[in-house]
Amino acid sequence: MNSTLKSAWYTIGQLTDIPRLGAKVVTFHGQPIAVFRTQTDDVFALNDLCPHKGGPLSQGIVHDHKVTCPLHGWVIELDSGSATAPDEGCSHTYPVRVTAGKIEIEIQNMAVIEPNTETLST
Ligand code: FES
Repeated sequence: MNSTLKSAWYTIGQLTDIPRLGAKVVTFHGQPIAVFRTQTDDVFALNDLCPHKGGPLSQGIVHDHKVTCPLHGWVIELDSGSATAPDEGCSHTYPVRVTAGKIEIEIQNMAVIEPNTETLST
């Protein structure tokens, strides 16, 4: 069996698939990635794991360019994945771009598989 690792941009759906202040979860190689849309249509992608105790960030509350984790209320910066002070920790982020209304995520050095998608609203 051949296993190919490469970096590439993957289309994960339309911007309109995600409600403003909502999130969509895509899974690459078993890793759930939360894709967020802000009120101003900015899009961010980071592992769907809170750096505190692994809470599902996709189910948090999006505000400005941040998400508040639903479990214990840590606030995570969507652009960097970093917890805001005084909390410390970081969730891995992924490059995202929107081209002609389609959201693309750059996945680096992962086996090529098709994503499963699920849309969540907050
Ligand atoms: S798991 Fe996110 S704040 Fe605790």
